[in-house]
Amino acid sequence: MIKVAINGYGTIGKRVADAIGYQKDMEVVGVTKTKPDFEAKLAVNKGYKLYTAIPERLKVFEDAGIKVEGTIEDLIEKVDIVVDCSPNKVGAENKAKYYEKAGVKAIFQGGEKKDVAEVSFNALANYDEAKGKQFVRVVSCNTTGLTRLLYLIRENFGIKKVRATMIRRVVDPKEDKKGLVNGIMPDPVKLPSHHGPDVQTVLDVDITTTAFKIPTTLMHVHSINVELESDAKSDDVVAVLDKEPRIMLVSAEDGFTSTAKVIEFAREYRMRYDLFENVVWKESVSVVDGELYVTQAIHQEAIVVPENIDAIRAMFELADKDESMKITNETLGIC
Ligand SMILES: NC(=O)c1ccc[n+]([C@@H]2O[C@H](COP(=O)([O-])OP(=O)(O)OC[C@H]3O[C@@H](n4cnc5c(N)ncnc54)[C@H](OP(=O)(O)O)[C@@H]3O)[C@@H](O)[C@H]2O)c1
Repeated sequence: MIKVAINGYGTIGKRVADAIGYQKDMEVVGVTKTKPDFEAKLAVNKGYKLYTAIPERLKVFEDAGIKVEGTIEDLIEKVDIVVDCSPNKVGAENKAKYYEKAGVKAIFQGGEKKDVAEVSFNALANYDEAKGKQFVRVVSCNTTGLTRLLYLIRENFGIKKVRATMIRRVVDPKEDKKGLVNGIMPDPVKLPSHHGPDVQTVLDVDITTTAFKIPTTLMHVHSINVELESDAKSDDVVAVLDKEPRIMLVSAEDGFTSTAKVIEFAREYRMRYDLFENVVWKESVSVVDGELYVTQAIHQEAIVVPENIDAIRAMFELADKDESMKITNETLGIC
């Protein structure tokens, strides 16, 4: 049984913690917070042992009447691996402060630079590269969505060149400090966006990306164009995508006319309306003059969750790629 610490019980951390709860070969020993707010209370109510992410803040939790078991340093002593889900760039600081000193394994998230870890990870694309590693970075939500799709296209049809546009939700639903109220923001204005180079940390493809932020919180949408090496038809591509559990094909004919409708479906389909899959519009899959067009939606809060579980199995060599992905899919209801 692999003992896991979640350092940063926020949007990603709470989901990874719950997903670990469904696995038989790993368990959550404790989670951390810096603030004694409602999320800290929820963690305790759910039965997670709470630790302070910043050692000096023990008293703040005690003063707020929230039971904490100790600090991140105490937690690290009890675990085999830390899944770092702290805010962007804080993971690298935590690595230097705690993980390297303790000699513990750690997984970082996509908000960290690629050099924080020995390998950037996506279960479909490069599971084996994480085997036995001490530090692994699970790539971001957009990169995970792009990589899954492009891996399947490359393996089945070959890729000459990819052009992709990310239409990004501006912030997560819980954010109340920042946002974009009225506008479309090229982000960045100058090509390329960071997504293409990030895909290349896990998948060897020629790719150029652009990105825009828009005033929505639900999901990202990707408009992807792939020059294929082979002579595939639209139906051949649909058949490949249909076979992969981490891709969910939906159709406008069934009422999936926007991300709003996809999320409305997800609210009934899964706890916390988490969509771990790439949501691909079937009608969008079109091959025109050797070029494939695909439109997909990505639930940014959820898509990296199965990848974190698979990364743990790879790092401890608990299972091979197919076995790990199958267990993760079955336990999280991905089919
Ligand atoms: N949200 C997404 O759409 C998404 C998708 C894919 C990947 N990611 C990546 O996942 C990582 C986490 O993002 P998130 O959206 O989950 O952030 P988040 O919701 O803001 O959660 C961050 C958590 O980290 C805690 N924290 C703050 N300072 C810390 C420290 N020094 N050490 C440890 N924990 C600390 C916070 O606790 P307090 O609240 O108590 O301060 C909070 O629980 C980032 O790298 C991000 O880029 C995010």
